[in-house]
Amino acid sequence: MKEVLSITGVRNELSAVRARGELIGLVPTMGALHDGHVHLIRKMKEQASFVVVTVFVNPTQFGPNEDYSKYPRTRDYDRQICEQEGADLVFYPDVEEMYPAEQAIGLTIAGLTDHLCGKSRPGHFAGVLQVVNKLFNITQPDLAIFGQKDIQQFVLIDRMVQEFNHPIRLLIGETVREADGLAMSSRNTYLNRQERKRAPLLYDALTMICGKLTGHPELAVSEVVDEQERRLKANDLKIDYLSVVNFSDLQPVVHIVPGNRYIVAGAVYNGPTRLIDNLITDFKQIS
Ligand code: PAF
Repeated sequence: MKEVLSITGVRNELSAVRARGELIGLVPTMGALHDGHVHLIRKMKEQASFVVVTVFVNPTQFGPNEDYSKYPRTRDYDRQICEQEGADLVFYPDVEEMYPAEQAIGLTIAGLTDHLCGKSRPGHFAGVLQVVNKLFNITQPDLAIFGQKDIQQFVLIDRMVQEFNHPIRLLIGETVREADGLAMSSRNTYLNRQERKRAPLLYDALTMICGKLTGHPELAVSEVVDEQERRLKANDLKIDYLSVVNFSDLQPVVHIVPGNRYIVAGAVYNGPTRLIDNLITDFKQIS
């Protein structure tokens, strides 16, 4: 496995790989790898002949009061995971390499960030698209994979790929869960014992909303969601959002139409830690 720190180094390595006719698959990460990332690497290995993992904690996607400085950095462990999973190249740029000067040009996003995480994390997705756009240009992959847990991120990157004509096929990696249903996340390491115990309640709430609307599609979405909000609050979880939105434009819905594609998504503060999760469903069958 090659380890590369510079953009020039990655470009040189990958132009040789491309010249051999290999299919390049990109797995962008912020490190602190867990089984969710392992799933992404494995899924990419099934599709691409040369797998590139990037490890970069991107400062531009963190708000001023967010956890950029305390975000876990586990470089040796990350290297071991990448090696063990058969990644071919790991790119670890530092901040100066990615942002050598003040960036004058940014992406503005219309509409798609009015709800869900975009509402409470202003600027977050502009930072995500900025870095992903750079990583796409630096590595020029044939395929790239992102986890379902960050579903709004996936929908926005998909839009960027279409609107900016990146010749990249996107894959989505299913959310990997702990035995009690908690979605794996690097931020789970912040939870104390009590917070960890109640953390799966978010997944429970999403599952209940899916189940109830699948059985009773005539109900108002707000009625079903409110019931779960009350349950989460009663268990000391502070709701950021709990919502059912259209998959395509991320707009909240009042009533569902079975057969259409939706996202049932939630974000809660569990102590100081913000947890997110979602299910994609057509309200006929939960996926
Ligand atoms: O999902 C993540 O880990 C990050 O948002 C990403 C896509 C690597 C961009 O920094």
